[in-house]
Amino acid sequence: MSTVARPQAPICPSQDLAELGSHSFQVLYRGVQREAILVRFRGVAYGYLNQCVHMPRRLDGEEPGVFDEAGGAIRCTMHGITYKPETGECLSEICAGKSLTPLRVEEREGVLYLTDKRARLAV
Ligand code: FES
Repeated sequence: MSTVARPQAPICPSQDLAELGSHSFQVLYRGVQREAILVRFRGVAYGYLNQCVHMPRRLDGEEPGVFDEAGGAIRCTMHGITYKPETGECLSEICAGKSLTPLRVEEREGVLYLTDKRARLAV
């Protein structure tokens, strides 16, 4: 059973999200409990629902990291579809025109917060 936290409750300390790292967490998104993920790319944190557009699988479902070897794209660990880290736009031809669902997050004074009005942290 889950409970809902405050809309802008902290997700995690900034130090828990290294460059090219990821951090999974749970949200209530439009009233439905979903997996979410933070990634850090070129120093900036981005939030997305943790679901690939190819199939309803977690981006990190097969292994912990979600960046490709070059560190230039998010790469789903299931079949390798890639995404632009800053926007979630799919870079692979098979899913061209689709995007990850972004979640608004903010980083303030060493803490990462969920600030998306459509989502609340679920614990
Ligand atoms: S489920 Fe992500 S690439 Fe297929």
